[in-house]
Amino acid sequence: MLFKGLTFAGLKLKNRIVRSATYMKMADEDGKVTDQLIGTYEGLARGGVGLIITGFALVHPSGRAAPKMLSIHADSYIDGLRRLTDAVHREGGLIAVQLVHGGRQCPPLLLGGKPPLAPSALYDRVTKTTSKAVTEADIWMVIDAFADAAWRAHSAGFDAVQIHAAHGYLVSSFLSPYTNQRDDYWGGDEERRSHFAEEILRSIRQAVGSDYPVLIKVNADDLIEGGLTPAESLRHVRRLEPSGLDAVELSGGMKESHTKTIRPDILKPEDEAYLKDAGRLFKKNMSIPVILTGGMRSRDVMEGVLQRGEADLIGISRPLIREPNLPNLMKEGKEAADCISCNKCTRFTRLPFVRCKQLKEEPTS
Ligand SMILES: Cc1cc2nc3c(=O)[nH]c(=O)nc-3n(C[C@H](O)[C@H](O)[C@H](O)COP(=O)(O)O)c2cc1C
Ligand code: SF4
Repeated sequence: MLFKGLTFAGLKLKNRIVRSATYMKMADEDGKVTDQLIGTYEGLARGGVGLIITGFALVHPSGRAAPKMLSIHADSYIDGLRRLTDAVHREGGLIAVQLVHGGRQCPPLLLGGKPPLAPSALYDRVTKTTSKAVTEADIWMVIDAFADAAWRAHSAGFDAVQIHAAHGYLVSSFLSPYTNQRDDYWGGDEERRSHFAEEILRSIRQAVGSDYPVLIKVNADDLIEGGLTPAESLRHVRRLEPSGLDAVELSGGMKESHTKTIRPDILKPEDEAYLKDAGRLFKKNMSIPVILTGGMRSRDVMEGVLQRGEADLIGISRPLIREPNLPNLMKEGKEAADCISCNKCTRFTRLPFVRCKQLKEEPTS
């Protein structure tokens, strides 16, 4: 089943493998596309993956979550992004851009010393900063920024957009009872916590029309005490679906839940697909395709997840850092990825750009 195609919302995937969004630290200091980034995505497209989702791309400067992250916050970025999508399409690939506002998890150093924006003014134990509770004006500014970014993505030739509503970033922090302690239209109970994501989706639809594929990545589980549970997350996504959602990707965790977002040491099949129970719950209760991400390494496990109805599509990140051609290798019979989930590729401050630290560095000429 892994190599059986799937078509949804006009996207024709040649197989069930999706490259889950992966920040590569390869844009320039302003977030513009570089030749290195284009080369990486060309490699992924040649490697046979069904759909590439870019690393998170900034929709507004107040949401800068990492240095050299891709940006889509102004029209001047469109030409570079067009070079990227053209390169992927020439290799026969499909590419979606992931749209993000970093919210409370932005390091203040990247915000010119300003406090990060969040639904509520809470202390974050990782960034060691108290965020600023967003005003009504801030909220609408960010909603507009998502819609403008989606319009730019469409203009730059991306095949789809994905709203990043996972991992504790701004949209995720509105959905979560752990970080959203407001009592107004934007929070106070579960339904009101959905409103921010709902308004973003509606504005994106107004900007790109009803035919353009819009995906979302959510936390099926915040993996932190007092956070979002799979049942609540499912209800959020069901509330969003009527506003025009085409697929949902499931992940989990936030910075404060530490290694749970990118779980290390997945060395045996029993450790793989660590969110598969949530996958089954979403699949049973949703009609749109479910992309399950988190720790999938072997072909058998991926096939099992698809066959048991725990997902329609398999999202992978780290295995494709190490082996961008893994889909083609698996199609030819390779049983499992070489990635050992050591997480050395996530030591972002030490790395000039993201690469597999288990492989020898390529000599620079
Ligand atoms: C280097 C690196 C960068 C990542 N960047 C992003 C990102 O930009 N957006 C996102 O949603 N997830 C990001 N993730 C998380 C992955 O998409 C994925 O959810 C997680 O790594 C689990 O999948 P895996 O076990 O296949 O690696 C990143 C992961 C890694 C290893
Ligand atoms: S450094 Fe290499 S082996 Fe380790 S998690 Fe990253 S891609 Fe996998």
